[in-house]
Parts: sequence; structure tokens; C-alpha cells
Amino acid sequence: MSVASLSGQHLLSIEDLDAEGIEEILEVAEAFGEVEKRSVRKVPTLKGKVVASLFFEESTRTRLSFETAAKRLSADVLSLAVASSSVKKGESLRDTVETIEAMGIDAVVLRHSSAGAPEQVARWVERARVINAGDGSHQHPTQALIDLFTLRQALASAQGRSSEGSGLSIFDGLEILIIGDIRHSRVARSQIQAYTTAGATVSVAAPGTLLPTDLEGWPVKVVDDVDEAVRHADVVSLLRMQEERGSGSFVPSLHEFTMTHGMSEARAANLKPGALMTHPGPMVRGIEIASRVADDPRCLVRQQVANGVPVRMAVLFLALSSSSGGEDG
Ligand code: CP
Repeated sequence: MSVASLSGQHLLSIEDLDAEGIEEILEVAEAFGEVEKRSVRKVPTLKGKVVASLFFEESTRTRLSFETAAKRLSADVLSLAVASSSVKKGESLRDTVETIEAMGIDAVVLRHSSAGAPEQVARWVERARVINAGDGSHQHPTQALIDLFTLRQALASAQGRSSEGSGLSIFDGLEILIIGDIRHSRVARSQIQAYTTAGATVSVAAPGTLLPTDLEGWPVKVVDDVDEAVRHADVVSLLRMQEERGSGSFVPSLHEFTMTHGMSEARAANLKPGALMTHPGPMVRGIEIASRVADDPRCLVRQQVANGVPVRMAVLFLALSSSSGGEDG
């Protein structure tokens, strides 16, 4: 069920947010973006709060940017090194979470390879807010918020105006094409919901085996001709082949995937003027994106990473505001 605002709530899925809720996060992130420009990049907003960072699956940018965001807000960060924790002795997820909550945490940032793990954890915690940092192939809500925030900034800048206070109208009628391993991608699932809520039209292109089996009912158009679709899109969102989820076995070869669906230099040359590309990272250069295209200024991957901090500051701030059982931040 959608709620208008993230205030005091868990963030488990983009479906938790309606357009107003998304807009609120983007605006708070704009304000926290200003903190990033100061000589002392820290505010006391979450002083006294404790954020636990629980990553049961590998991560570079999500983990580091959540932990940086919490520290910028002056929260204390408990970072569980899963590989050297009692999880390795057989402790269950529930016992791990309940143990950490007993230490008096206010938020749990959770990445897990099992879809639905954050929902389960949200049922087990008594007072902490749960933020989904990626669960299996299910959801990666903060990545979709970062992508919206980054695109809003880039599109507004191209129009010579500020993104701050610009709402979501810039996405009205925008044609977004998502290419790659849609089947295994939590980013694609979150992006599709976020982009359509914002007013964009979303198409997807993938080898048939890398399309989700439950695609009927999704608010997307499936395109077969990648080259033609690339020529018309305002934004092309690229996705990594999820080798850890066995994606390679869904195509004859990675080379063939690159030929049919990779963003080669030749394809990038056919993008329409002003078109932008996104990639949530980590990129596998030479597979879904040619190395030169990854470094092309139309590819916003570095801006996406940089925006991870203010967007996650906004998410932590809102989720911990007026949270049950705690003092307001
Ligand atoms: N985009 C993303 O989730 O990257 P990490 O796996 O490095 O966190």
C-alpha cells in the first residue's frame, strides 16, 4: 500500500511511496546535497541515533554511501561484517536482527540475497525502521530514487533551470528504455515503478530468456528492435548481467548478449540528441556497456554514485523522523 510520505516508515519497496512521497525525498535530498558542498560535511540531524548496516550480499556503493550518509547526519553506525560474524556459526537472520536491535538501534539498512528478507525483518523489529538496500531480484528502492534524482538534475540542467522544487513534471512523457537482464534485476523492478509513478513511459529490451516470466501486467512495453528503440529513447538505463544469479546460463554466450543488447559505441552514436544513459553499477565494461561509452559524458554513472549520499541521507532522515518509540530527529 502506498503512503504519502516516508516519515517514520520503513522503506521496503518503491511501492511504499506515491508521487508525493517520492517528491518529498528528492527535495530533502536537494537540501542535503548542499551539506555535501560545505567545508564541514556534517549536520547534527541524527545525533544520538544508531544505524545498523547489515549486508549479507556484496556491495560497494550502497553500503559505503549509506554509511557515509548516516555519518554525515551524525548518527552512530554499527556495521556488521557478516563474513566474520556469528552468522557463520549458524545464527539465523531473525536472531541476528533481534540481537542487534537489543543494542538499541534506530534503523537497519539491509541487503540480502533473499527477496522479501527486509519485509520479514520489518515484522521482527520492535522499533527500528528497516531500509531495503537490495533484496534478491525483488527491490532496490534507494537506487531508483537516486536514478530519479540524478535524471531530474541532469534534465533540469539541460533546460537551464534548477531541479530544486521542480517536482516530477520533468518526467511527464519522458521515454525511458531499460536494456539488459530485466529478469534478475531488482533495480529494473524499482526503476519501472519509480519512473511510471513519476509520469515517464518505460520500455524494456532484453533477450527473451532475460525477460521476467510475470511481465504481463507490468506497466512497460517490450521492444524487440534494440537499435530502433535506442534512437527514440530520452533515457537509456543499462543493467549488469547478474552472474551471481546465473544470468550467463540464460543466453548462448555473453559475447552474443553484448552483440544483441550491449551499449556499443555504434549504438551510443545513434542515441538521439540530448539523450542520457544511466547504469546503477557495478558496470562490467565490455559486456553491457562499452568502456568508452561508460566514460561518455552522456552516461551519468558517476553522478548516480555521488548522489547516493544525499539521497540516502534523505531516506534515513525521513524514515527516522517521528519514528515510533524514539524521539523526533
Ligand atoms: N548499485 C548497487 O547497488 O551497487 P552495489 O552492489 O555496489 O551496492
